[in-house]
Amino acid sequence: PDDCARRPGGDIALSGVPLTRLARDHGTPAYVLDVATIRGRCREYRALDAEIAYAAKAFLCRRMAALVAEEGLSLDVCSAGELATARAAGFPAERILLHGNAKPDHELRLAADAGVGRVVVDSPDEIDRIPGPQDVLVRVTPDIDAHTHRAVATGIEDQKFGLSLTSGQAAEAVRRILARPDLRLLGLHCHLGSQLSDVAAHVEAVRRLVGFSADVAVRHGVLFPQLNLGGGHAVRYRARDAGYDLAAFAARVPEVLRFECRKHGLPVPRLTLEPGRALVARAGLTLYRVVAVKRGGARTFVAVDGGFSDNPRPALYDARYDVRLFGRTSTAPERRAAVVGRHCEAGDVLVPDALLPDDVRPGDLLVVPCTGAYHHSMASTCNRVGRPPVIAVEDGRAEPWVRRETDQDLLSRDA
Ligand code: LLP
Repeated sequence: PDDCARRPGGDIALSGVPLTRLARDHGTPAYVLDVATIRGRCREYRALDAEIAYAAKAFLCRRMAALVAEEGLSLDVCSAGELATARAAGFPAERILLHGNAKPDHELRLAADAGVGRVVVDSPDEIDRIPGPQDVLVRVTPDIDAHTHRAVATGIEDQKFGLSLTSGQAAEAVRRILARPDLRLLGLHCHLGSQLSDVAAHVEAVRRLVGFSADVAVRHGVLFPQLNLGGGHAVRYRARDAGYDLAAFAARVPEVLRFECRKHGLPVPRLTLEPGRALVARAGLTLYRVVAVKRGGARTFVAVDGGFSDNPRPALYDARYDVRLFGRTSTAPERRAAVVGRHCEAGDVLVPDALLPDDVRPGDLLVVPCTGAYHHSMASTCNRVGRPPVIAVEDGRAEPWVRRETDQDLLSRDA
């Protein structure tokens, strides 16, 4: 997080709370979240001339949903579970958008019963299954390659999300939505992918979506009041990584939107953005304890008490992280080592090329920054290892937002 401060004795403090104290009081591995950083990011995004819908998939629990409501954001949910969490936190239903390329009937029913503000249509058959009356958007695929990892590239053709503009899928979906008088089509949605650092991709998406809106206006006489550009803004996992330039977005995208609308004689729709990672990633970090060190082989392996189950991102996306020793000082020279997890597969590598003091040893504490997004939400119970707690830190105080999963929790679902 941006808010870390080195302490004497090798400790690190987050918003006034020493990480060694968090490790002692709550155990390891543990996710730690800096609430002030999340609030700060929410406010930076809200300062844009756009509706900001936080993408809950990045990280959600009851307290997070309450914070998002308090900060005045909308919420993008993609499952009955996320919707239930939002509802349990009292999140205003009219500010919720429901996403998903495969929404089961019961999920659509729950959304309707809850009074969810917008459903984002992402398949032709769904159009007949949405209970009315309902406001909807239609998710289109603009065929833009925003240069990200294949597993999270969603703006291109030949992937499962959205209705393609070029093949006529999107035009057909619009026609069918408009044929249902109890559905109100408020506009288009696209999400080009995740961890995008290229503002030009969003500029191009605006051009293509406004172009398609103009076709719809001509053919059906319908004008769209909203335009949802999805999320995907990149964050800097390591100091050397590229982030998304939000100032460049603010300087460029609304202007291009106005220009394109004027060109086609359309009213300017209100923009919606759906950042997930950009709001929470850098607010989080993970604390681990070193359990075993192996030297003398091809590489030095530093094994910690977590791994693949609390962070599957290196294995899934070749994601890279920094890692640091804290809790003691070392004068030993730094050397390359692989920080690995405790799970029973060789691919359980957290940081393949960590730079750590040569005297790193069992009992040491390590911190991996930038784990606030897609870590808790993607954690598994692989090897029947319970999932770590989420400890929120604010104003010098620490409070668990999610408790550690115990062996008893794991057994509680078994016959
Ligand atoms: N809106 C829609 C419709 C999405 O599908 C997503 C992410 C977002 C917004 C938010 O994207 P963000 O701003 O967080 O990049 N598990 C992967 C990321 C999957 C993202 C899926 N959709 C990871 O750990 O990188």
